[in-house]
Amino acid sequence: MASLDTLHQYLRTRIPFIASITASLTFAAEPPDTNYDESKVPSYELPKIIELTDSKPQAATFWKEKRRTEVLKLLETNVYGRTPDAKIGPFKFQTHESAAEAFGGKAIRKQVSILIDPARDLAIDLLIYLPKNSSHASPCFLGLNFYGNQTVHPDPKIKINPRWMRGNSKIGIQNNRATEATRGVYRDRWQVETLIDRGYALATAYCGDIDPDNYRHEFGDGIHPLFYEPSQTKPLPDEWGTIGAWAWGLSRALDYLIEHEPRINGDKVCLIGHSRLGKTSLWAGAQDERFALVISNNSGCGGAALYRREFGERIHHMIKPVGYWFCGNHAQFAKREQVLPVDQHMLLALIAPRPLYVASASKDLWADPKGEFLAAKAATAVYALLGKQGLPVSQMPALNTSVQGTIGYHIREGEHAVTAFDWKHYLDFADRHLAH
Ligand code: GCU
Repeated sequence: MASLDTLHQYLRTRIPFIASITASLTFAAEPPDTNYDESKVPSYELPKIIELTDSKPQAATFWKEKRRTEVLKLLETNVYGRTPDAKIGPFKFQTHESAAEAFGGKAIRKQVSILIDPARDLAIDLLIYLPKNSSHASPCFLGLNFYGNQTVHPDPKIKINPRWMRGNSKIGIQNNRATEATRGVYRDRWQVETLIDRGYALATAYCGDIDPDNYRHEFGDGIHPLFYEPSQTKPLPDEWGTIGAWAWGLSRALDYLIEHEPRINGDKVCLIGHSRLGKTSLWAGAQDERFALVISNNSGCGGAALYRREFGERIHHMIKPVGYWFCGNHAQFAKREQVLPVDQHMLLALIAPRPLYVASASKDLWADPKGEFLAAKAATAVYALLGKQGLPVSQMPALNTSVQGTIGYHIREGEHAVTAFDWKHYLDFADRHLAH
């Protein structure tokens, strides 16, 4: 099924009509009504993040004390859903490896499971690599992965994820389970040894450990049931979907790092996510202000891109295949983007004043690179209010050129992916802001 995803990914920039046929077998990523023509972008007005008064200190206080919460609530109600108040836990942990040497001795590898619901084998398996010879607690990148921790590096000691995952015979997922062949298939996306060389730790977990990304989603197999009221079987229309669940899982991983991993500096944990997991890193960073820095890599529709441009992927394209990523209410705005009470510049503003990096790719028109840039530009107003520069430019930079204020942005030449080029700029950005 996911090899069709890959074919589809290739086709969608080339032969949209055929792509729409392959998409119907997986999900409709490239329907014939997709607009890639800039001249057909409607004129639109973005919802105001905040009414700016003459008095900046007053507006800054208003943002911090009132408006930020209102914006968060609007995004909960209309886009991602509310994370239930009920607290579950404390969780037990199972340590698989407490401190093993890796990469010829320059790193330490740890593997630990956060046991969420042992009766259902629901556990977040965390893989952690730490720079071995660091004299201080390391800053850390934390991100979810698509097909298990063993995909991020060929290291033979990484536990192969045992749980259900989307089929993808091309990378070695057979019968919805990861095989040995998946080891290291996404090493380019993660650049683990470069991170270690530059003094950063990495923590990662498989998104399906929290909520399986199953296109036939019924909210019965991930964490949602743990929060249901008696007789509830799925989230209410304003309650969280899968992105909300994944974001919750990132916060539980952060709890673990802060409370149990002294070799990591809990004040310097950077969230990173690609595509659907980029949407997730933004939503997790918006809700949980303990994350020090947030990176959105090609997150597109429902991530950093502005809905109101109606360019590339749109809400109505997502409903059938992946509507469960969002809350039920979100579907009301299919083909009605212009009346959505929020737009994604407001999501980005919730990261302020913390450093935020938004990255696009030139061939990833489905994710609307310009819409991602414009959202970052519009979020700059809140950064400015809080005494930060935000995005330092007002026009999209040239290809392969990183611009960095407290908001960073680049559009890399190439496909929807995470590359060494992207990581170079993320690491430079983190160096600049986390000064470690
Ligand atoms: C599809 C989907 C996007 C998503 C992407 C991914 O293309 O339409 O919204 O970002 O998958 O996560 O790979």
